[in-house]
Parts: sequence; C-alpha cells; structure tokens
Amino acid sequence: MMLPTKCNFMGLTLYIVLCVLLPVLSQPRKRVATPTATTYECKIEEFQQDKYCVFRNVVYNGRNAIAFKAASSKEQQVAFVDSNLKHIPMELLTAFPDMRVLNVVNSNLNSVVIPNKLERLYASKNSINKVIVLQDPATTTMIELVLDSNRLQDISNITRLAKLEILNLNGNKLLPKENAIELGWFARLKNLRQLRLSDVGMYYIDNARDSSLPELLLLDLSNNDLITSNLDVKVFAPLRKLESLQLAHNQLTKLDALELTENNKLKEIYLEGNDFTCNYQSLLVKHLIQSGIEFPVEHKNVDCMQGYWRQDGMCCRSGLLDRISL
Ligand SMILES: *[C@@H]1O[C@H](CO)[C@@H](O)[C@H](O)[C@H]1NC(C)=O
Repeated sequence: MMLPTKCNFMGLTLYIVLCVLLPVLSQPRKRVATPTATTYECKIEEFQQDKYCVFRNVVYNGRNAIAFKAASSKEQQVAFVDSNLKHIPMELLTAFPDMRVLNVVNSNLNSVVIPNKLERLYASKNSINKVIVLQDPATTTMIELVLDSNRLQDISNITRLAKLEILNLNGNKLLPKENAIELGWFARLKNLRQLRLSDVGMYYIDNARDSSLPELLLLDLSNNDLITSNLDVKVFAPLRKLESLQLAHNQLTKLDALELTENNKLKEIYLEGNDFTCNYQSLLVKHLIQSGIEFPVEHKNVDCMQGYWRQDGMCCRSGLLDRISL
C-alpha cells in the first residue's frame, strides 16, 4: 500500500472540499423532502364485544402522507382508538376494500365517507357536518349509522341510504329547522326500525305529509324541549308499527294518551322527567295500564325537585304550589 505523499494529501483535501463539502453546504436549505408516508398497522383485538382490527394513535390532518396495513386486506371490521383524524383517509378505503364495519368514535372528524360495501358505521362524538356517500341508492348496503354527538345540519345525503335500519342522530343540536324536526325527512328510509333524535334541541315534532316510516319500531325524542301544545300525537298515527315511544325529559304537562293508544299499537312509552301534575300523571298511568302499555322508568332514584312528589316511580308536580297561589 502506498503512503500518501504531501502532494496527494493536498489533492485529497482539495477533492473533499470541492466535491463533497461544497455541494452539501450549497444545497438550498429548504429542500422539500420526498413524502414518506407514515404507515399504521392494525391489530386484531376484542373490541366492543366484537373482533376488530384496531388502529391506535393515528394522526391525520388531511394532508400528511399516510398508509394503512393489516395482516390481511380482507379485514372487514376496522376501529380507530385514541386517534385524531380530520376526515377518513382515502388510503384506508383502498387498504380495506372489504370493510363492512368502521368504528371511529371521538376522533375529531369533520366528515365521514361511506364506501361501497360498508354496513355499519359508528362515529359518535366527533364534529361531523358532512357525510359523503359513495354507495348507490339501488345497491346500498348500509344498515346501521350511529352519528350521535356531532354537528350534522343537512341529512339529505344520509337519507339516500335507503336500506338503513338504525339511525342514531342524538345530540346533533344543529339538526332542527326553526326548532322543528320533520318526520318526513326520513320518509325514504323504508326499512328504518330505530330512529334516535334525543337531545337535538327540538321544540316541535312535525309530520306534514303523514309519512309512514312503515317499519319504525322505536322513536326516541327524549331530552328535548317539547311542550304539550307543540306535540300533536297525530304525527305518530302514520307510524303503524311503532312500539316504543321515548318522550322522557321534555316539558310536557299533558299528553293525549287516548288518541295515542287508539292510533298506535304501542308497547311502551317513556315519560319520566316531564311536568305532569300528580293527579294528571296518575290518570295517565291508569290509562296506560288498562291499555297494556308499559311505562319504563330509567332513573327511579332521582331526587324530585321541591314541590314534586314521586308517584309510580316518576316525579310529578304535587299541585300544592298551584293551590297556594289560588
Ligand atoms: C353530500 O354529498 C356531496 C357529494 O358527495 C358532498 O359534496 C356534500 O358535501 C355532502 N353534503 C353534506 C351536508 O353531507
């Protein structure tokens, strides 16, 4: 091996400076890095009493490059836990072309997409105001859509999912139009069995065109601001199969139970948390018992407010206050 002479040592130094250091140092400093997608892999787990491929700690702001993988692309049930996603990445849909169930609860979503073949979507507790439906009305496969506690205002895309059986819109406070919910909005959903509209801030419930919702068994209108004069029980008359009517925690002082039991074949009605006088409530309860309709009480042990008594498990206005003011 040849020892470096002084001369070729200088040559080497010159070479390093000219050909290695200078080009590196003279690189523009803000070089755009070629995007390397962050790849997330899901794990098969027991989740929500079911088997899902679960992704954890996924972050997607709508722009960062992202990729998804699983042991098998045939995975049909996918869930996100502790994740923060602005919307559903298209990369997810390409990675799981067979996805049937998607669970993305509490993940900061602004919108969701409903791909072909999807049957159930659980996306509670996000900020969803947009639902992009990729399914064709003629071949739609969606059965269950759970979108409680979101920011939905316009549900015309949702009602294209003509085969839906379960729709949960609880806690979407932007849903009422002029404080009213119109049952006709759901008329295209001929297979709908459960409709949940609890805590949406409605003052009125309407059914302007007597829409029948022919398969509807359960209607949840609890935790709203319905008062007696704004609730005409005739709106329920076209709902031929209605069995469970949930009216708890509104501000009803009366309820036309006679008309209700004539028109509908109810099995149960939830009434706690309204403002019936005890006299009126006992007549109501008597009529329900005679008609074979149950009145389940979920919170039997709540303290009644001052001036209210407990009767048949429900707090009712004692009437003492009314008498005093006479
Ligand atoms: C309805 O769907 C269309 C087309 O997919 C989309 O552009 C629009 O933003 C959606 N609107 C809502 C309110 O979901």
